[in-house]
Amino acid sequence: MSARPVAATATAVAASADSDPCCAAPLPVLGRDVTVPLVTGGEVTYAALDYAASAPALQRVWDDVAAYAPYYGSVHRGAGYLSQLSTDLFENSRATVHSFLDCRDGDQVVFTRSTTDSLNLLAAVLPADCQVFVFETEHHASLLPWSDARVTYLNAPRTPEEAVRTLEHALAERDPYGPALVCVTGASNVTGELWPVKELAAAAHAHGARIVLDAAQLAPHHPVSVKESDVDWVAFSGHKLYAPFGSGVLAGRADWLQDAEPYLAGGGASRKVSRRADGGVDVEWHTTAARHEAGSPNVIGVYAIASACKALTEAGFDALVERERHLIAKVREGLAEVPQVRVLSLFGDEAPRVGVISFVVDGWNSSHFAAALSAEYGIGVRDGLFCAHPLVRTLLGSDPQEVGECGAPEAEPGERSLNAIRVSFGAGTPDEHVERFVGAVRELVREGAKWTYHTEDGRCVPAV
Ligand SMILES: Cc1ncc(COP(=O)(O)O)c(C=O)c1O
Repeated sequence: MSARPVAATATAVAASADSDPCCAAPLPVLGRDVTVPLVTGGEVTYAALDYAASAPALQRVWDDVAAYAPYYGSVHRGAGYLSQLSTDLFENSRATVHSFLDCRDGDQVVFTRSTTDSLNLLAAVLPADCQVFVFETEHHASLLPWSDARVTYLNAPRTPEEAVRTLEHALAERDPYGPALVCVTGASNVTGELWPVKELAAAAHAHGARIVLDAAQLAPHHPVSVKESDVDWVAFSGHKLYAPFGSGVLAGRADWLQDAEPYLAGGGASRKVSRRADGGVDVEWHTTAARHEAGSPNVIGVYAIASACKALTEAGFDALVERERHLIAKVREGLAEVPQVRVLSLFGDEAPRVGVISFVVDGWNSSHFAAALSAEYGIGVRDGLFCAHPLVRTLLGSDPQEVGECGAPEAEPGERSLNAIRVSFGAGTPDEHVERFVGAVRELVREGAKWTYHTEDGRCVPAV
């Protein structure tokens, strides 16, 4: 253990790195000035590099929510002025999201709690004999909501073209008369690689299937057009789109949503409820999005999503994508200079990607490495299997069949890990954060950790 002034080291690493600011400035986010203590003393500005899990709130979202908060009122039911205002805000937010996703006329925007909730909602409304096709590479939110009896799991493809061929082959084998659904991610939460959504949608439709796009990692980084990609539904989460107030979205075709029983039964979803002569109740359910939004809606969460949609649209995705490409190049080039680092990839170096990069470091336990990045450099990344166990295990070269819960057991500090480290960033990330990260990786690999760590509840933590 050493008492070396790591605050100074971290600053020096940042300052010495190639500082090449490009493009537009990062969008202001909450927490950008927060400092955190370093285990060896001193403080640094926190470098939030775990956007793929949850991105910080955009300042604009926070300001919009704060401006609305005094006017908060019950949605849909109240007669008072603030209730009317809140109802307008809620329904206008639906229109904003419809436009943000470039939906078709007639598509419904249903507000949910998250991507996981959206995909479980879709699973609940599938026609009885619907078959589901999903790549084993998906996040568990896309992999697990479908009942086992109806799912075909597709093997991990090694190119986007192979993904399309694999899907076509599977669909060609299916019962051609029944309904079918394909579920695919737009951008991987492990590799950041973009999936060929438009081509997969075309393949699905050519075989009479429908397709839902898991845009949890795509929507914060790239424009999503339902019309252009021709997907039937799209799902995303507010907290990954700089709007961490507990809402999500499922948008797309109305028919399966209208035909099914409500996801939750209760007020808001029901238009008319009456007692029957036999003592039971008859219910007439809404056929609009409200059918699946029973209970008092999360108007703040929904308004926050709409605010984020507007903020990203106004900032311009061209500028956001260009800036992110610049950050991705800095990280990838920096990691490529460290021979002990292996970046995980399904589609190869040239694949287009978002700012999500997973890697392993020879001789390092990933939890140990991530703990040292945090404790010694003030950098927040993630380690583990990222709720995509089959994909990470395939990429690591171990048993790809194993599916479990988030947070896998770790080896002791210093042992080789069965898990990976993920760094992820986005619209609020300044160059300094990724420069500090690259410098810290280099320094940790070269010099080792400067502190002692031990395992506590399956995770590495600094010994205090
Ligand atoms: C690709 C992908 N899909 C779905 C989810 C689930 O999102 P949520 O936890 O917001 O439901 C995640 C979360 O990390 C994700 O990365």
